[in-house]
Parts: sequence; C-alpha cells; structure tokens
Amino acid sequence: MDHFELRQGVLHAEDVPLTRIAEEAGTPTYVYSTATLERHVRVFREGLGAIPDPWIAFAVKANPNKAVLATLARMGLGADVVSGGELSRALAAGMDPARIVFSGVGKTGDEMAQGLRAGIGQFNVESEPEAETLSAVAQALGLTARIAFRVNPDVDAGTHAKISTGKAENKFGVPIDRAPRAYAAAATLPGLAIQGVAVHIGSQLTDLAPSRAAFERIGALIAELRAAGHNITHADLGGGLGVPYDPSLPLPPDPAAYGAMVREVTAGWNARLIFEPGRVIVGNAGVLLARVIRVKQGVTQPFVIVDAAMNDLLRPSLYEAWHNIRAVIPRGDGFTATIVGPVCETGDTFARDRPMDRVEEGDLVAFMTAGAYGATMASTYNSRGLTPEIIVSGDKWATVRNRQPIEALIAADSLPPWIEESAPQ
Ligand code: LLP
Repeated sequence: MDHFELRQGVLHAEDVPLTRIAEEAGTPTYVYSTATLERHVRVFREGLGAIPDPWIAFAVKANPNKAVLATLARMGLGADVVSGGELSRALAAGMDPARIVFSGVGKTGDEMAQGLRAGIGQFNVESEPEAETLSAVAQALGLTARIAFRVNPDVDAGTHAKISTGKAENKFGVPIDRAPRAYAAAATLPGLAIQGVAVHIGSQLTDLAPSRAAFERIGALIAELRAAGHNITHADLGGGLGVPYDPSLPLPPDPAAYGAMVREVTAGWNARLIFEPGRVIVGNAGVLLARVIRVKQGVTQPFVIVDAAMNDLLRPSLYEAWHNIRAVIPRGDGFTATIVGPVCETGDTFARDRPMDRVEEGDLVAFMTAGAYGATMASTYNSRGLTPEIIVSGDKWATVRNRQPIEALIAADSLPPWIEESAPQ
C-alpha cells in the first residue's frame, strides 16, 4: 500500500497534488512519500512479529538519498552498505554505526579501515582472501572487526538473472561446503571476531521457497560451526523480498508471510537475526514524475515521448522491468501506446504496447514503484543532469536533491594542459 492516490481527479503524493510539484520543481523528478516509508518500516517490523530485537539494516543501495536514510534512521533502522560512499552516507544521515553491516565482494583496504574506524556492527566477508586483508587492516589499526562470512547456499532464487546472487556460479559469498574451512582459518587470524553467518540470494523474490531452502542450509551450518567451537551469535538473512509492480499479477508474499517463514525456520537458532530489506521499504514509496513532450504516431501505435529517460530510470532497459504508468490527471479513457524517453537508443523504452490512461502532449505521468533502484541508478547519459528528488510529508514537501544543471556537468570536466595552453586553431 502506498500514499499516492487520486483525489478530485488528480494524483497526489499524500496531501500534495503532483501537478503542484511539477509546476514548481519541473519535470522529470522523483517524489517520495514519508508516510509510505514509515508504513513500510512498520509493516516489515510487524511481520517479523515475535522475533526478539531484530536488527533491520536498510540496503542503502536501493535509495541512498539523505532524507530517505534520515527518515529511516529516525525509525531505528540501521544500514547495509556496500561501499565507503554508502557508509559515509549512512553515517551522514545519522545512522547508528553499531547497526551498520558492510557487504560486498570487493571491499578495499581503505573501505575496511573506514568501517573499522566508524565502529560498524558487522563485516559480511565474502571470501577467504578478504578475511586475510581485513585481519591485516584491523591489526594495523589496533581494532577488531566483527565478522560473518557471507555464504553462498547454491539456491536458485527464481528471479531475474541479473539480480540473482545465491547460485554457485554467482560471484557472491563463500560456497557453503567450504564455509567450515573458511571459519576455521579466520578463527586463527588476529583482529577478527567471528560473530555470525550471512546469506542473501537475490532481489525481487516473489516466492518464499528459495529463501526457506537457503535459511535451512544456514541453520545446519550454524549448528556445524558451533559444534566446531565458533561463537555464532548473529545470523544475517539478507534482503530480497519482492514488491508488487504490476497490479494484474498475483501479490508477492508480504512481510507477515515472510516473517512467519523466518520464525519457523530459525526457531531453534538462538541467534540475533539481521535483515537487509531495500526494495520492500522504499519501492512503493517513490514515483518518477514526467511530462509528455509529444505523442508521435508510429506505424502500428502511438509513441508517447516523455521527458524522463533511461538515464533517469534504468530498470526497464536493464531488466525489462515493468512499472505502472499513470496519468496524473486521467482523462477517463485509455489507449495502447509505447512509452519512450528522448535518449538516442531503442532501449530507452519504458513500456511497449502498454494499455494505459490516454495522454496528450503536456500531460503529466507518474512511473509508479520507482522509489527503489530508481534515482540511485541514474546517470547523466546524453548529458542529461541528474533529476531532482522531492520528499512529501502530509501537506509539506521539500526538494532533497537539486536538479543537476548542465553547467555542473561541464564544470566537472577539465582540459589537459596541451589543449588549455594552446589557443584554438
Ligand atoms: N543485501 C544484499 C547483500 C544485497 O546485495 C541486496 C541487493 C540487498 C540486501 C537488498 O535487496 P532488496 O531487499 O532490495 O531486494 N538494481 C536491481 C536490484 C539489485 C539488488 C542488489 N542487491 C533492480 O533494480 O531490481
């Protein structure tokens, strides 16, 4: 459920008409709803139910905007970060370092040092050589890294191949069969304190069975590790819960169903559970607001050309992702159209042959469920500055990232001395 709804024929974000935002801030722009963010955190927590003191580490990669992170920090969420940049953002937004988990296969020594100095709660180590480097960095700083190994359980998550992470052939984690050896080796390394096991099998999961299978394997591994003398106090179950994009499809499992499954599988574990939800918290809390530049009649159907493009919302081009597209002021009838952006690539297509609200030149449209992996995956391709981000709360709204002017893009470049020094020919 979200707080984007029609009121008197105009799509609103909470109490603010999207038309007003478009007039004052221009388009394209991302718009987030605070009430939806807060609701999703509550629903996720309630879904976990009786699990004692769950550590909810929001996957910053889904939406690293400072205002979004600060909203979540105020609700007690920590962060799952995958780079020094994300760590800096989480800290800048006021997240408690003790509730920060550092994931990722390619942490550099500098990033490890940053995490250690910040006192983060856990490093999810993805390989044996990474454990050795982390040990050396921690020792040099005179600090101790609390670690879990991210384990690859070899489970097919049943999602898009580009966002599947738990199969043996994926780059993530230590193969589960090798995990006991990795823990034994890490136990001998100075500067490391083993505290847990971590797993994450993929994103936009619409079936609980693969997660259940992965968690069962983790449960068996925890028992094996404890029998070998390791002190396993934490189990990080990753993120991945899917959200509804297409209202005509069956709903993905909700946090209550997910929580019930987790409680059942982890009942005897006696470990503090960590969760890394991203999409389920922010996905439906954001829309990308765009204006129709013109409607061009193709051979078979109209092309609706909007002022947002693949550089602003990459998901449809990269994953054939489906986003609902709604008119901000529906005219009351529909048509079938192909919705494209102005970028010079055929891949700059948001939807093909899509039955949707009929729109005309100048109309506003909203790409729904764009709060996760939307603005954060944007680029400046075709020299289009990054879109603004706006957050709404009740009848208030604020710009929380400015539109990037072309001057800023040009100013970030510089000329090499041999061009600067010589006068133009
Ligand atoms: N934890 C780890 C270790 C992850 O790699 C991810 C996502 C998450 C948590 C959060 O997963 P979520 O709850 O959001 O599904 N750009 C793609 C999604 C990539 C997900 C990468 N990892 C998309 O737009 O669909």
